[in-house]
Amino acid sequence: MRIGVLTGGGDCPGLNAAIRAIVRRAYTDEAEVLGIRNGWQGLVENDVVPLDRASINGILPRGGTILGTSRYNPLKDAQCIERLKENWRTHRLAGLIVVGGEGTLSAALELCRDHQLQLVGIPKTIDNDVCGTDFTFGFDTAVSIVTDAVDRLHSTAESHHRVMVVEVMGRHTGWIAAYGGIAGGADVILVPEHPFRISKVCELLEGRKKAGRAFSIVVVAEDAHAHPDEPFLNEEQCDAIYRHDRLGGIGEALAREIERCTGIQTRITKLGYVQRGGSPTAFDRILATRFGIKAYEMVRDEHWGQMAAIHGNKIVSVPLAEAVGELKRLDDEIYRVAEVFFG
Ligand code: F6P
Repeated sequence: MRIGVLTGGGDCPGLNAAIRAIVRRAYTDEAEVLGIRNGWQGLVENDVVPLDRASINGILPRGGTILGTSRYNPLKDAQCIERLKENWRTHRLAGLIVVGGEGTLSAALELCRDHQLQLVGIPKTIDNDVCGTDFTFGFDTAVSIVTDAVDRLHSTAESHHRVMVVEVMGRHTGWIAAYGGIAGGADVILVPEHPFRISKVCELLEGRKKAGRAFSIVVVAEDAHAHPDEPFLNEEQCDAIYRHDRLGGIGEALAREIERCTGIQTRITKLGYVQRGGSPTAFDRILATRFGIKAYEMVRDEHWGQMAAIHGNKIVSVPLAEAVGELKRLDDEIYRVAEVFFG
């Protein structure tokens, strides 16, 4: 049996652990694994490398992906799909494991359903926004990085009696902000699921100052936005922050507004791509490894159109259709926990 594996979308820690697990598990069945380079692009352009035991030596703790990745859309035209199918036939693939976030997995579902390709999925992303699974790998590492940053910002904020605004990733959901903010002891956490009122944020920060706590930490998700009742950004600012593919910039606008309204010196730290880089945590290594083994077994058992997932602490398989189409929004219970510590 010969199977393929590709990694698509934004990279995240744990991808190499998943690739390693697939290759090691295949090895025990004497199955062959082909690595498709740079996501779907590699299958369309026939950029493929054999993955043997030697090629995965030492990759478990490494961030990124040894296969490379891209946000290439294989469904952009009929010619692309034809070339992809032709390369599939050339390599005589029995199945393909697609490791990706919502975008990559949506393409997998369509290729499986409408073009009868034999695909299974593994969910990965630092954002933890894929439905059908409690967690994606990459998320725990990103949360650890945010927690460490918030811990470090506490001491400098306290020394200078400042408000520190920390902007974190997460795309259209607030998972990283909420988990990182709770773990780091943030005083305010702003997420896309709960549009914020700037007057309320300033009131909380002023309240802290009056109570003798002269510094504060505000964690803001990159897609958090103001409640329509209190829009403090003009159209041009909204265009720059929200209305294009790459989010980011709300932290800076928010810090300026907080300083203007409260008179408290305010600084901004945008964590950016550091959240996606470096070595995965033990949790992410284990989750990626379990997903890799499960996905291999799903290919072996011909469970096409399914995705490896974690429910509680059990690794299960769910239909890809359950995972795509909508994003997994921040759990309300988590937000209520965060709120207890506001102010
Ligand atoms: O989906 C992962 C993620 O890191 C998001 O948190 C962020 O908004 C986006 O990718 C950045 O994408 P790019 O790598 O295309 O700049």
